[in-house]
Amino acid sequence: MTISDPARPARILVVFGTRPEAIKLFPVIHALKADPRFECVVCVSAQHRQMLDQVLEIAGIVPDHDLDVMQPDQSLDALTARLLTGLGQVMDAARPDRVMVQGDTATAMAGGLAAYYRKLPVDHVEAGLRSYNIFHPWPEEVNRKIIGSLASLHFAPTTTAEAALLKENVEPARVHVTGNTVIDALHWVTGEIERRPQLATGLAELETRFAGKRVVGVTSHRRENFGEGMEQIATAIRRIAERPDTAVIFPVHLNPNVRKVMNARLSGLDNVALIEPLDYPHFARLLSLCEIMLTDSGGVQEEAPALGKPVLVMRETTERPEGVAAGTAKLVGTDAARIVSEISILLDDTESYEAMARAHNPFGDGEAARRIVELLGHEIGI
Ligand code: UD1
Ligand code: UDP
Repeated sequence: MTISDPARPARILVVFGTRPEAIKLFPVIHALKADPRFECVVCVSAQHRQMLDQVLEIAGIVPDHDLDVMQPDQSLDALTARLLTGLGQVMDAARPDRVMVQGDTATAMAGGLAAYYRKLPVDHVEAGLRSYNIFHPWPEEVNRKIIGSLASLHFAPTTTAEAALLKENVEPARVHVTGNTVIDALHWVTGEIERRPQLATGLAELETRFAGKRVVGVTSHRRENFGEGMEQIATAIRRIAERPDTAVIFPVHLNPNVRKVMNARLSGLDNVALIEPLDYPHFARLLSLCEIMLTDSGGVQEEAPALGKPVLVMRETTERPEGVAAGTAKLVGTDAARIVSEISILLDDTESYEAMARAHNPFGDGEAARRIVELLGHEIGI
């Protein structure tokens, strides 16, 4: 335990850079900022630019530091080098008591490493996810193992994640099961939409265009699927869209390796809407209006079960086995024929659909951010 100076609040530097980190950290930032025991300093790497800014705006977060590192089609090594240098400089200037990172992105890994180089305690939100395959997802499995090896507090979303850390000999007292903050974020955005429905009305035109059709929502961006995987996914979507009763709404990730393939293969089809990335309220709206989600995303695997939406996961393995165990998620890989056959089963067989479409919440109860802040207070002795 580190005892902070009681004369001043503990300074927590929260570091993140991509859309999913922002979504999963804004509930913690809101909670830290509302708590006088803490001074919350926000540093964004802007590993993502537009997709990060979409979240910052809706969550009302104005960063104290913005490294603006994103470059088009950035490579892992150049990105990591920029992140490590830039985040280290921010830490030297901000002089935090502790550094918080989330998940397994390059920003989270570099933020953890830069803090470790300064012997600053690192608090890891969404700790302990493991696929046990360093190339699926790539490079996230190694990023999170690096953070796991240097973190001070490990906020595990589930008991499965906790068990993974204990198996790696992390001291049990350092691991806390908090739930996943993505459920806090989902509750928050749902409440915001109830209060201000105009936040999520932007899909009305598509809803009219596809009235009477069954909507499949799609997201895809994984690096290990670039090339052949993306081609297979596009082929599957083309075939699904041949069904007159089905429409696909696909907010396309800004990564050029995704956009090139999807624009070339899916533009101009009657039953496919390729659209720009949605802000979080509109994505929540898509989750509620679609019948099925088809995705290779991590966060969507957590949100869809919470909303009772069957989610077909275009990966060979998952570090989130809880959704599969609960029966709302199914691993389908990236083979086009397999994807089409799994979607067809859900569309054509009511019993199979109903078996998956049950709201189930293995990822948390929406109180994760509150628990994290309490645990931090306890750790610091305030
Ligand atoms: C990153 C994370 C991944 C996470 C994903 C969430 C790493 C190595 N990868 O992958 O773990 O699941 O974010 O989406 O940390 N781009 C834009 N504008 C944006 C965002 C991206 O133009 O707002 C384009 C840029 O050309 C950029 C490229 O997408 O170079 C790739 O971004 P990057 O963060 O390196 O990788 P992602 O595939 O997004
Ligand atoms: N999301 C969003 N708009 C979109 C697609 C996704 O707001 O157009 C949200 C989604 O609700 C989830 C998160 O982004 O919370 C997932 O991010 P992404 O798939 O980019 O990354 P991953 O979770 O795979 O790391």
